Amino acid sequence: MKGIILAGGSGTRLHPITKAVSKQLLPIYDKPLVYYPLSVLMLAGIREVLVISTPRDVPAYRELLGDGSSLGMRLEYAEQAEPRGLAEAFAIGRAFLAGGPCALVLGDNMFHGQDLTRVLSRARGRVEREGGAVVFGYPVKDPRAFGVVEFDEGRRVVGIEEKPERPKSSYAVPGLYFYDGGACDVAAEVEPSERGELEITSVNNAYLREGRLSVELMGRGMAWLDTGTPEGMLKAAEYVEAVQSRQGYYIACIEEIAYRRGFIGAGRLLDLGRALGKTDYGRYLISVAREGERE
Ligand code: G1P
Repeated sequence: MKGIILAGGSGTRLHPITKAVSKQLLPIYDKPLVYYPLSVLMLAGIREVLVISTPRDVPAYRELLGDGSSLGMRLEYAEQAEPRGLAEAFAIGRAFLAGGPCALVLGDNMFHGQDLTRVLSRARGRVEREGGAVVFGYPVKDPRAFGVVEFDEGRRVVGIEEKPERPKSSYAVPGLYFYDGGACDVAAEVEPSERGELEITSVNNAYLREGRLSVELMGRGMAWLDTGTPEGMLKAAEYVEAVQSRQGYYIACIEEIAYRRGFIGAGRLLDLGRALGKTDYGRYLISVAREGERE
């Protein structure tokens, strides 16, 4: 399975912070926001990833992440010339996906939780075995800024509404989606919504109409953090700081994940740590690598 990170958009809701910088390059505590969704794909065991951003920002992503070889991965880059909507990822990524299944993650979505790896491998396995699509439902107090799941009396999913004024449930659909190889064709049929965008929600509803969408509900043990506002970004940073300083484990440390998933060895991890100089982040990588060498 391949992955796509969608890191485009003009970030107008975060102006002036994002006037000159792509939102997904901003820091969440000690690392750029895009590390968090990238780590999610890596935890799903995905090693080939397409990063889509604006013509202005692609060079910056390339500078940050390179071709992925230092992580034992293959990263490619593509431009989304205009913010025409999330479903355009499939038109842009068609050649990269070459008819295969994929996980699509939005570059500003952060997940954390004990169960995450299991949830990811279950979704991936399901799509690879049975086809169709898997999306998630996550309870939030105010779901109006998101895609929202609608259930019937039997708790069966009957639809997803994009940014409804009157949400029919509290289950928002996070920006993490698993699709079979048909997603590009499904997305090609999608018409722009009232706000003029090719909505990912329309792709999901198309799968649902064919009886091929599974909505997995995420529970309390999972954190899906909001980075859509300055307050959300601050709270997300505080969450990362709190967990990391308490446990000593890093969240979304892509180098560590590459090592633990066997994409790279302890020697490479040590080099990556040394290259980061005397930062806490670099020291952390070195300590993980040394532990590995001792084992
Ligand atoms: C997008 C999707 C929405 C989803 C959200 C998750 O909205 O359109 O369905 O719930 O991402 O972050 P955006 O935040 O890009 O407006």
